[in-house]
Amino acid sequence: MLDKTLDKTTVTSDPPAIVNRARSAVPRALKRYLSLDDFEATARRRLPKFLYGYISGGAETDAAMRDNRNAFDEYGFVPRVLNDVSGRNQTTTLFGKTYASPFGIPPMGSSALCAYRGDIVLTRAAAATNLPMILSASSLITLEDVRRENPAAWYQAYLAGLPARIEPLVDRVAAAGYDTFVVTADVPVPPNRENNIRNGFQVPLAITPQVAWDTVTHPHWLFGTWARTVINHGMPHFENMDAKRGPPVLSKNLMRNIGHRDQLAWKHVELIRKRWTGKLVVKGIVSPADARIARESGVDGVMVSNHGGRQLDYAMSALRTLPEIAALANGMTVMLDGGIRRGTDVIKALALGADFVWVGRPFLYAAIAGGEAGVRRAINLLHAEIDRDLALLGIRSIGEITPDLVRKF
Ligand SMILES: Cc1cc2nc3c(=O)[nH]c(=O)nc-3n(C[C@H](O)[C@H](O)[C@H](O)COP(=O)(O)O)c2cc1C
Repeated sequence: MLDKTLDKTTVTSDPPAIVNRARSAVPRALKRYLSLDDFEATARRRLPKFLYGYISGGAETDAAMRDNRNAFDEYGFVPRVLNDVSGRNQTTTLFGKTYASPFGIPPMGSSALCAYRGDIVLTRAAAATNLPMILSASSLITLEDVRRENPAAWYQAYLAGLPARIEPLVDRVAAAGYDTFVVTADVPVPPNRENNIRNGFQVPLAITPQVAWDTVTHPHWLFGTWARTVINHGMPHFENMDAKRGPPVLSKNLMRNIGHRDQLAWKHVELIRKRWTGKLVVKGIVSPADARIARESGVDGVMVSNHGGRQLDYAMSALRTLPEIAALANGMTVMLDGGIRRGTDVIKALALGADFVWVGRPFLYAAIAGGEAGVRRAINLLHAEIDRDLALLGIRSIGEITPDLVRKF
């Protein structure tokens, strides 16, 4: 499915017929995007400063976010040669389902505030290319609508430590047909992201003179995303925090909704485990000790992650504790996110023990720059990089990625 939209310049192993059809499938406006990093400049230009800062920024000094890149940069490859690498295949099986590549789109709150119908755009692109996508609890489109667009989407929860709120939410997600429930564990309190305060971005959204000026000077977003959303779909609400619809993005009731998160504990994960019959994932683990508890709590998978450097500053990159976590997983699926921008990053993470990885900001930038076609373009670029890198490493499949292919500089 993925190959239908692949660009000739990016893939060497497709039969010519697919390549020719595929070549014309890349819209002209998207051909100039040659790597995941290329989408950011367009997104930055189009978005009000407060929204660009919300996506791009980390917490406090951005040290955690920087470490996500530094950790990957510390590894190089030891490629093998003369291995006959024809017939390459990067399909990857995760929780019994085979995907086109070993990466997916992680939860990103307020996506539909950044790109028109952002969650739908991301989930459609994922469905069209046979990749998983996770819908955020902080999303603005109902989880039922997203599930209709992509029956393979996962749901991610931000939970208060209150069973009376957790249980009906779990039941709603199950009734909508989701089969994977993700609990994000690294948000007991709101983070300290000073860039948001400086840019006037706050929860709830408030139309200060600074924000008003920021929006009128970015008409692409004002008309193409905000006004279009309000006209076609009404004022956006946080649809999926709880069993019932949450408040609108401009509402002062929002703070009430994100309260009690500091009471969340492993006992609540165990409670969900009893109630939820599908796959259960805990996201936001960096410590091997926590990964062990997750495994002992009956969790099916962990997402090793410092939340893209957006929560605790100086939380170390997931890549640094990944090998230890992989070593104790004992059958539990180990996934990773944070800082992945290249096929080489994907392969480094898999070599160090990840079963699967997730790529955040670049896909949201691609949605802002080019809608669903933009996200598909970004996915295809990463797919093509992995295909090329496998060949240059002297291997043919994801299963052949082994620790001896990477070495610390
Ligand atoms: C704009 C934005 C919103 C996010 N919202 C959520 C969220 O609602 N829930 C969550 O678990 N993680 C959220 N994250 C974190 C991502 O799921 C992911 O861990 C992170 O983006 C990975 O790092 P990367 O952007 O460097 O790839 C968000 C990240 C961004 C950039």
